[in-house]
Amino acid sequence: MVKEKKKAADIEKEPKKMEKAASSANEISDAGRRNFIKAMGIIAVGAGLALTLRGVVQSIIPPSVGISGFPTLTLVDQSGNPIHTSSLKVNDPAIVAFNYPLQNEPNFLLRLGDSSNNDVAIPGGVSVSNPGGSSYASLAGQGPYKSVVASSAICQHLGCEPPNIRFYPPSSSTFPGLIECNCHGSQYDPYKGFGVVKSPTQFALPSVVISWDSATDTYQVSNMIGPTIHGHSSDLTGGTPLTSTSSTAIYNVT
Ligand code: FES
Repeated sequence: MVKEKKKAADIEKEPKKMEKAASSANEISDAGRRNFIKAMGIIAVGAGLALTLRGVVQSIIPPSVGISGFPTLTLVDQSGNPIHTSSLKVNDPAIVAFNYPLQNEPNFLLRLGDSSNNDVAIPGGVSVSNPGGSSYASLAGQGPYKSVVASSAICQHLGCEPPNIRFYPPSSSTFPGLIECNCHGSQYDPYKGFGVVKSPTQFALPSVVISWDSATDTYQVSNMIGPTIHGHSSDLTGGTPLTSTSSTAIYNVT
């Protein structure tokens, strides 16, 4: 009789037990879901952070892509037409630049003159002041007056770019006839192969090899000499190739 009563009581408790078990299972599954959502949230935040950091790192370190050799490119205007000597102003106070050999490697294009804005023939063969590295001979000016020269526009000290670094014509009251970088005061002489005039830079601005076709009065760039362009392990790496394989366009930096 007692046994039967107990059995009846047990049967009565059974649904409650099952209910409790189901409730625990739900709680466990809720907790699992919450943990899963939390984990996904952490992964998403982590991925976002990684992308942001990658962007920051990429802005500091140029991508390690590049090209296998120096291309020969015609200097053209923004419409793609070859530039002629008359397109270049002697001692132009504006900053005229072109990218070469990669997109993130800007260069100055200068038609050098005296203080009266007459072309000055640049002889070439001058020993370039390059205290941090070996010396080398400067390139001669090109064009009908041998006055057109070009160099990297990236400061060899810590990499400042135009307009922080720029050419000051001989008639200028400040830095006459020099390229000066206002980041820390480095100075270079474009009349003598872009050699160092004043530190903190220890390296000359790398020169761009230009040739002039007298028949068409057009200009081509085909190489660089001197130190490696600042911020690059070689002139040919650490940036994106130019979009054209036959020309590079000049532009003004303001
Ligand atoms: S970056 Fe040009 S002087 Fe320092």
